[in-house]
Amino acid sequence: MILSRSRLSRKTAPAPAAGDGPAVVPRHVAIIMDGNGRWAKARHLPRVAGHRAGAEAVRRTLRASAKLGIECVTLYAFSSENWKRPEEEIADLTGLMKQFIRSELDEIHASNIRLRIIGDHRAFEPEAAAMVDEAVARTAGNTGSTLVVALNYGSQDELARAMRKLGERIQAGTLDPEAISPDLIAAELDTADLPPLDLLIRTSGEVRLSNFLLWQAAYAELFFTDTLWPDFDEACLAAAVDVYARRERRYGGR
Ligand code: FPP
Repeated sequence: MILSRSRLSRKTAPAPAAGDGPAVVPRHVAIIMDGNGRWAKARHLPRVAGHRAGAEAVRRTLRASAKLGIECVTLYAFSSENWKRPEEEIADLTGLMKQFIRSELDEIHASNIRLRIIGDHRAFEPEAAAMVDEAVARTAGNTGSTLVVALNYGSQDELARAMRKLGERIQAGTLDPEAISPDLIAAELDTADLPPLDLLIRTSGEVRLSNFLLWQAAYAELFFTDTLWPDFDEACLAAAVDVYARRERRYGGR
């Protein structure tokens, strides 16, 4: 059964599906892309091969989400905790990011997609950080869908930065602590102008949020799949969106 729009949230105005997609499409889908290492290990390949295959899955997923009419896709590409990984793996991931920008940016731009970053990508080596800045600037005026890439992102760090900004305003005498509301906090987050998060997907069978969009996921539907990220494809995304369409979102109501 596909839910009628009236049973969806007041906050979520479902975008009409493009093509043959389901009738109810989440506006904003976030993905914890997990399982690259296990995918490689199962094939006796180095971890970087898993990440390379993961980058292919990113390409497939972006095309699939455009077909479904999803307005905003947020990908957890590098967490603030990923710096604990060996230097070689960090270099491989940074290299893949640069390669992705080189090979995909033209198509992203031509598809009227705006690239946004959450987290602090300035922590990456200068050439990578500059490439990200250029890609964001080049696509800033695009008005179609939004691709958000979480780079050096951690939700607790994002909340701490937001609190610091509110604290500074209080200290400057321009904000009354009594005026702090959920909306005011949300406005200070990296995701401030993005649509509310509707669906959060995690691949590879792990069932946790790993410091990803903790605030934003308050009312998101969660979808966990055993599929390893490099195997994720259009059918997997369609299955997640289909499950989403069948869920009843009550936001604490009845
Ligand atoms: C988790 O798998 C994946 C990552 C930490 C990195 C995600 C990166 C990509 C998909 C490739 C490049 C991304 C872009 C946006 C071009 P894991 O290594 O933790 O896997 P494991 O849990 O099986 O070891």
